[in-house]
Amino acid sequence: MHGDAVDALGRPLHDLRLSVIEACNFRCPYCMPADQVPDDYGLDAASRLSFNEIETLVRAFVRLGVRKLRLTGGEPLLRKRLPELVARLARIDGLDDLALTTNGTLLAPLARPLHEAGLRRITLSLDALDPALFRAMSGDRGDVATVLAGIGAARAAGFAPVKLNCVVQRGVNDGEVEPLVAFAREHGHVMRFIEYMDVGNCNGWRREGVVPSSELRDRIDARWPLRPLDANYRGEVASRYAFADGSGEVGFVSSVNAPFCGDCHRARIAADGTLYTCLFASGGQPLRAVIGRGEAALAAHVHALWAMRADRYSELRATTPERRKVEMFLVGG
Ligand code: GTP
Ligand code: 5AD
Ligand code: SF4
Ligand code: SF4
Repeated sequence: MHGDAVDALGRPLHDLRLSVIEACNFRCPYCMPADQVPDDYGLDAASRLSFNEIETLVRAFVRLGVRKLRLTGGEPLLRKRLPELVARLARIDGLDDLALTTNGTLLAPLARPLHEAGLRRITLSLDALDPALFRAMSGDRGDVATVLAGIGAARAAGFAPVKLNCVVQRGVNDGEVEPLVAFAREHGHVMRFIEYMDVGNCNGWRREGVVPSSELRDRIDARWPLRPLDANYRGEVASRYAFADGSGEVGFVSSVNAPFCGDCHRARIAADGTLYTCLFASGGQPLRAVIGRGEAALAAHVHALWAMRADRYSELRATTPERRKVEMFLVGG
């Protein structure tokens, strides 16, 4: 047996983000720009971890202290038979929280099967309500009405609340903030605004494009007064605020202007089984061969890898020289 894993900076391993597929049906310019990533981008199916391998992997991580699991992509709903995988993971003892992040286009028919399989929390990306802007922000792939139908289906299937993520870019969709808040308040969804990050190598990030969360918070507070809330759990990524009138809450993920590496308890696994210990890692550790040796061997291996972890990119951003970084679509945010 192994005790809980702790890294070189004293941080436990509590939260696993697992990509089930690297492909995506969107080409959001901040993540997977269409001029950089070909239409048919993706691994062959055999290069992705099988459901058996994923189950072994998750069980090994639970032995090390993981209690939260979030399934990501690319676009996770493109993975065939996903509800079957969810049902297998939902049965794992020790896992308290099973969530999924999706762009929502394929969600309407899948919301109920996923909920019935044991998925309990869902987050959708929603960068704009304006149809033309939404389409542009999806790399000319997405239809906002389809995503809104997906949100409605999630709610009807029993996901409550539904979380909505918006990456805000100055001069692109910063005008959508108030309409998104109004929409979320009206329907009882939790809206979260994410600072545009310098993830990966291909999104042409510029600091001028970042809208600091503090600015958005002040704007929202001016129209709908806000009151700060305590974190739901230690290391929660979003800072949360309640609307003073009692109608719900809003969150801000401020990785650029208010880094939260000190409490980062997250590991990320790409669809091919590579472990990344930071969203901005320049490289990862292939785990697939070790998964083949079983749950205990894998737990021992990851315990040792986690012990060496010292990542805190967001805190060191200003002094870190340009270097290669893993692409966001490989590790699902
Ligand atoms: P909850 O479990 O509901 O608190 O979800 P979450 O906030 O962990 O999940 P979600 O996928 O919605 O995260 C929101 C966004 O925050 C992600 O898409 C990323 O853009 C960003 N994010 C999440 N974790 C990290 C992290 O460890 N570091 C950085 N820099 N950004 C992160
Ligand atoms: N900056 C901030 N968030 C990003 N995401 C993808 N790329 C970026 C970026 N450059 C987020 C999306 C989605 C999640 C999967 O990752 O908003 O919600
Ligand atoms: Fe696809 Fe999500 Fe990246 Fe957009 S942010 S391209 S939906 S993986
Ligand atoms: Fe964690 Fe890396 Fe994000 Fe810091 S930058 S919070 S270490 S994933």
